[in-house]
Amino acid sequence: MRPRHSRVVPTRSSANWRAENGEGRKPCQHDSPSILAVFGGIQANRALLRTGGPDRASPLVPFSLLAKLLCVTDRRHRVWADVDLDALTHNLDVVRQRAGAGVRVMLVVKADAYGHGAVAVSQHAVRCGIGALGVGTAAEAFELRQAGLRVPVLVLGTIVDGEASAVMRHDIQIGIHSAREVTALQEIAERKGLTARVHLNVDTGMGRLGVLPQQAAALLRRIDAAGNLELAGVMSHVSSPRGALDEQAVRQAALFDRVLEEARAEGRLAGWTHIANSAFLFTAPGPHLDTVRPGISAYGVLPGELPGADELRPVMSLHCQVALVKDLPRGARVGYASTWSARRPARIATLSVGYADGVPWSLGNRGEVWVRGTRAPMVGNVSMDYVTIDVTDAPGVTPGDSVTLFGGQDAPSVEEVARQALTIPYEITCSVGRRVPRILRGGEHLLVPRAAGPKDHAPVPMQRGSRLRGLSAAGEPAPADDLTASLE
Ligand SMILES: Cc1ncc(COP(=O)(O)O)c(C=O)c1O
Repeated sequence: MRPRHSRVVPTRSSANWRAENGEGRKPCQHDSPSILAVFGGIQANRALLRTGGPDRASPLVPFSLLAKLLCVTDRRHRVWADVDLDALTHNLDVVRQRAGAGVRVMLVVKADAYGHGAVAVSQHAVRCGIGALGVGTAAEAFELRQAGLRVPVLVLGTIVDGEASAVMRHDIQIGIHSAREVTALQEIAERKGLTARVHLNVDTGMGRLGVLPQQAAALLRRIDAAGNLELAGVMSHVSSPRGALDEQAVRQAALFDRVLEEARAEGRLAGWTHIANSAFLFTAPGPHLDTVRPGISAYGVLPGELPGADELRPVMSLHCQVALVKDLPRGARVGYASTWSARRPARIATLSVGYADGVPWSLGNRGEVWVRGTRAPMVGNVSMDYVTIDVTDAPGVTPGDSVTLFGGQDAPSVEEVARQALTIPYEITCSVGRRVPRILRGGEHLLVPRAAGPKDHAPVPMQRGSRLRGLSAAGEPAPADDLTASLE
């Protein structure tokens, strides 16, 4: 059900599509990409290429029909990851409802938006009304700025001193974790005539980054006294994947509240306050301070089998083509180290995907894939470029067939793959390799908040000398060396 505070608006891309393809026809959202955008894995800059509307594959036969007939979604790629922007829209809406009215959603897009493609995901999220983005590193923040994104961006982790002035020039906010960082940032900011916008990170139990609660007040005083530092927020991070279902997270939230109260009492609390990641957002009753920082839930997954997962839709699915089908006699061995041998005459399909593309090596002889309407087991070890499956009981498998590794209706889910591979869902999507093109699908309809939320997704004015050289007005990526040029 669509929430009352949202409305659906068509995007320019759908309007263009209709203009190009005849008013009244609807783009098919699943079998054929309405925005078929491939952002290629090989270059670091991930240029977004629009490669046409759904029926471009043939002027006479719709691409979707062709796809069904040929049993492939997209024959141009040996392996590809579909990124369903409509699912992202849906999940952002769920997240926004969970956050509550007037609470800012800072979408976490670190690690290339958990493998989904940070620029494309961020652009879509901002068009959906998301007001801020969280990244892991300064380089990730630069990538967003270079792509023309102007919403507030926070480096959730640490930066190195050499990145500091470029971070300030591009109005990138920074987590701050120690007195040493306050001193170093102030020194650089003063020397360059810039201002650093910082979020004090309070370590309430994660034990990784941030200052201990008992040191927070002193660090706030230091930040206050540093003329070139501006407090843009105070944050903490919960450690339990079970969120508030775990006492530890509840204790962390209580500790954080005390730090905030103390800071408020001293008159030093400024900017945003935030602690909730996906697990906390979906398990704690709220209210959730003024900002939440979900990542994985926006991509359609919840950690730890938490309640609420069924409200979400998976954004990524990973597919490949069958490269080869061969019949092997009983006793034949398959793959590196010959870990599997045929107990009967077997038909083996070799898939054009491997661990370099994101299939965990640990799935060898354990994983399953979806092919020709059934699940087929992986046999033998996963190699860098190939996976072998036993299709003896899946008749009709042919080279060129599309195979789904995860995502989609009947294929293993990301959670299932993670369980089989003895890892967490985060690692599955983050590991999808750079050589796998991400194919954007859907995205014609956006949910835009009607009620007044935090207004900070308006363009952020850049500081002096902040323009990324080579950035076109349309926000096209600048050459890679422009970024290094802007570092200290
Ligand atoms: C500081 C911080 N906040 C928020 C998140 C988002 O967490 P999740 O993806 O579990 O929602 C992360 C991700 O690891 C993080 O490091």
